[in-house]
Amino acid sequence: MLTAITRAVSPKIGNCELSYLPRQPIDVARAIEQHQAYERCLTELGVSVISLPAEPDLPDSVFVEDTAVVVDEVAVMTRPGAASRQPEVESVAAALAPYRPLQFMRAPATLDGGDVLRIGSIFYVGETARTNREGILQLRELLEPYGYQVKAATVTGCLHLKSGVSYLGRSTILVNRSWVDAAQFAGCDVIDVHPYEPWAANALVVGEVVLLPSSFPRTRALLEGRGFHTRALDVSELLKAESGLTCSSIIFNG
Ligand code: GLY
Repeated sequence: MLTAITRAVSPKIGNCELSYLPRQPIDVARAIEQHQAYERCLTELGVSVISLPAEPDLPDSVFVEDTAVVVDEVAVMTRPGAASRQPEVESVAAALAPYRPLQFMRAPATLDGGDVLRIGSIFYVGETARTNREGILQLRELLEPYGYQVKAATVTGCLHLKSGVSYLGRSTILVNRSWVDAAQFAGCDVIDVHPYEPWAANALVVGEVVLLPSSFPRTRALLEGRGFHTRALDVSELLKAESGLTCSSIIFNG
């Protein structure tokens, strides 16, 4: 069975980190409703959701993905690249402890889970303002003993590797080639985001279903045309915080 860790929206989400997006007012009540709908959707898809209470003083803490990389054998607790986000790790570690042995990344490594794209047993890791070379090396040291490969990937013009590319299953990636060179993911078929929807490359795959924000209908139609079963979620307020659908959960075999 799949298990997801999520965390309620902080009332201070309006003070979130922003790198490539201008700050816009966030309707917190609406963000909370959208996040609850996201959790309900995961539940409907058969995922067991562990919903952590909000961390009121940590604006970005709803985006739990950045705090951990979880495989069947171990949970690697990251050192998020934004200092304001590093206190988010402790409570996620406590939630993961019953499920996996924990390993902790050490300074000077930094790594955000949003920079980590898994395709089978290969972990592609974007080297970005949030994830440094030492972070990639430490992730490699921690995962290679279990038979995984960790490869550095290049990203330009967006926050995280997974802002620009997602793995959809069936050897297919969804990509914005302005930000991420698709040739890095050898052997994959490529679906390009619709040109009017540059932020649409972050998709969350749960079983056979590809979840996309409802604000990207053209890209969703492209995926349906290629035979993927999709579902749309309204996450307009969370998108203003420079997030994607993968950011709000850590999903693992639990
Ligand atoms: N606001 C999401 C992040 O910058 O990490």
